[in-house]
Amino acid sequence: MEMIETIVDHVPVLTQQVLEALRVREGGTYVDCTLGFGGHAKEILSQLRGRGQLLAFDRDRETLEQTRQRLAADFDNFQAFHENYKNLPIVLRHLQIPQLDGCLLDLGVSSIQLDSPDRGFSFRLEGPLDMRMDLQQQTTAADLVNELPEDSLVELFRKYGEERSARRIAAAVIERRRRSRFQTTTDLAELVEQVKGPGSGRLHPATRVFQALRIEVNQELAGLDEFLKETVSLLAPGGRLAVISFHSLEDRIVKRVFQMEAGKCICFRPVELCTCPRKQTVEVLTKKPIRPSQTEVLKNRRARSAKLRAIEKKGEQESDRKNPAFELETLDPETGWSTSAPVPLDPQQRFEATRMELESWIHSRLTHYELRPRIGNKGVTPWSTFFSNN
Ligand SMILES: C[S@@+](CC[C@H](N)C(=O)[O-])C[C@H]1O[C@@H](n2cnc3c(N)ncnc32)[C@H](O)[C@@H]1O
Repeated sequence: MEMIETIVDHVPVLTQQVLEALRVREGGTYVDCTLGFGGHAKEILSQLRGRGQLLAFDRDRETLEQTRQRLAADFDNFQAFHENYKNLPIVLRHLQIPQLDGCLLDLGVSSIQLDSPDRGFSFRLEGPLDMRMDLQQQTTAADLVNELPEDSLVELFRKYGEERSARRIAAAVIERRRRSRFQTTTDLAELVEQVKGPGSGRLHPATRVFQALRIEVNQELAGLDEFLKETVSLLAPGGRLAVISFHSLEDRIVKRVFQMEAGKCICFRPVELCTCPRKQTVEVLTKKPIRPSQTEVLKNRRARSAKLRAIEKKGEQESDRKNPAFELETLDPETGWSTSAPVPLDPQQRFEATRMELESWIHSRLTHYELRPRIGNKGVTPWSTFFSNN
């Protein structure tokens, strides 16, 4: 009963703005990396009008199954995967989908997860100190709180919670766990409140500690920048990527990657020392992040910290096509046919390109291949020579 009420209550964040950012085109291929209860997915599917397709991911099997069933009743161009969205490139390769027209990430936990005491995300609701989005995963928040050494707790609360009282809280956790292990959300929330006091602002004193544990348990920030860069490489020219973040740690990563892909310097060193690629692959569509209106926040308090950023992939430059820095010869092992394709990296960049970057570029376009790098008219060069001599 509780679950059904919450589904009815579920309101996706910044829906209209997300649709504008994605500019869904009938017939296109779109991905919702964080399906949740499918609020955004449903709107995207409606705009596709039965043409094209939407792939969706969620690590939470229970949520995913419920949403899959609801959406499958109305749409047949929809597939949902119980996967970490970081596996998107693998899934696309498997499905032989070379490019995307749009991709959405609505980061963090859903209101359903937050409101379910048994999931252990909320300091306001008594439940097991769990916080796993994917229940198949081993480590829970209780494991971290009961087992991490004091210094690691301090580092965790500081790094992912930006918690000023990290050292005092960690010391109190160590002291308390000598007597008994932490079992529930309220065990921990009450301890943090004892250390910090009840707090005078709008934030509960345990907010930052809970945020830090949740990020660590679910490895929310690990590899996010790499994932965003890889997703940009998977977008078709004109394809769009939209990301909603809910705290500054996430937003900072999104902003940096978008700036870098837009060809801006993000190392802020003098020009001669700058190592940024400065290759523009995208146009930033949101000079400043889009925030929810007051009306939206009044209706849905959880929207208050949401920030939406979006980019559009640029088309291939005519000059890049005419003068590729180097080519890759690809050989289809089944037919024996070989083709060569220009690699979209400019001469400065090619020296910094790693084999992984090239492979991920190729993986996104071809399913069967053998790599035979070729530079200009020098013929086929083994990988080792290629990377050590250039
Ligand atoms: C904020 S909710 C998304 C809400 C959704 N946009 C809607 O309209 O209902 C975030 C969802 O993403 C899922 N999630 C978070 N990190 C994930 C990851 N790395 N891979 C797959 N799903 C993830 C969570 O389980 C949660 O259901």
